[in-house]
Amino acid sequence: MPAHTAKARAGANIALVKYWGKRDARLNLPAAGSISITLSGLETNTRLHALHEGADTDELVVNGQCLPVDRVGAVLDLTRKLAGGGPFFRVDSDNNFPTGAGLASSASGFAALVTAADQVLGLGLSKSRLSELARRGSGSAARSIFGGFVEMKPGNIDDGRDAVAEPLANCEHWPLKVVVAITATEAKSVSSTDGMNRTMQTSPYYPTWVATVAADLELARRAILERDFELLADVSESSALKMHASALAASPGLLYWNPATLACMHAVRELRAVGCGVFFTVDAGPQVKAVCLPGACAQVADRLADIPGVARILICGLGPGAEVVV
Ligand code: DP6
Repeated sequence: MPAHTAKARAGANIALVKYWGKRDARLNLPAAGSISITLSGLETNTRLHALHEGADTDELVVNGQCLPVDRVGAVLDLTRKLAGGGPFFRVDSDNNFPTGAGLASSASGFAALVTAADQVLGLGLSKSRLSELARRGSGSAARSIFGGFVEMKPGNIDDGRDAVAEPLANCEHWPLKVVVAITATEAKSVSSTDGMNRTMQTSPYYPTWVATVAADLELARRAILERDFELLADVSESSALKMHASALAASPGLLYWNPATLACMHAVRELRAVGCGVFFTVDAGPQVKAVCLPGACAQVADRLADIPGVARILICGLGPGAEVVV
């Protein structure tokens, strides 16, 4: 029996093997797979509230601010279609990440949205179907449906049924930590969606980047299952740098880093060279995510906090997948 309101939460995730490019833009199908960790501490809470019968559109409020419904409305349309109809909703979404921190909220946002929509419409979808729906909102959101270590499959069916995430290992398997160095607090210049489109259309390195992902997935999978930190560090830094290399070679080139980003990357490499268990990854923005062994976390946080241009440090662990909040 469909309800009027439902609430769900989901954690942000960080890719260790990056997603950067699509095989189908309309269905948001990735060109290659990716592997991520779902975080605790950086999360979105979303409440859906059915609007009165006369409403003719969904409404979106993020951290108290009304925003255009855009992709959120499109994803809700998909869930209403599955339910054979349903009301328009007011979507109230709150991110607990510091506002303006330049951390992507689309992954946790769409994972929480589809989880709440499934509940409110009484759909009872599997996690895999929820992952497929979340992907339509944002490719990385498909991964936040699951907790711990997660792999996104690119799939090869045209309708995208098999382009879904799957759990690889749970949080307890390897309780890594992530130190996020915030190096800029203004909105980023080019979104992931636009950045990857430009890379696909203009970067001479794009085909080579895509061709190397399968081998990285293989290594990362093995590193995670065997808890081989050195191997995970090498493949993750390499994946991030290759993604950025493909973006740098686009026209005009996409330069997501600032001087503090680069200083943090060097600092992480220096720490690792003296035996500290840490490696970096960087997404479509200037923040640096330093993934560490639990014992290295305090040293890494202290070192990055001292770098000129680092405005703030956040520390996260691994967290669970998206879930309904009662
Ligand atoms: C660099 O999932 O934000 O963070 O599917 O177009 O919404 P869309 O892109 P999005 O891209 C994430 C890109 C990335 C790498 C990653 O998370 O794998």
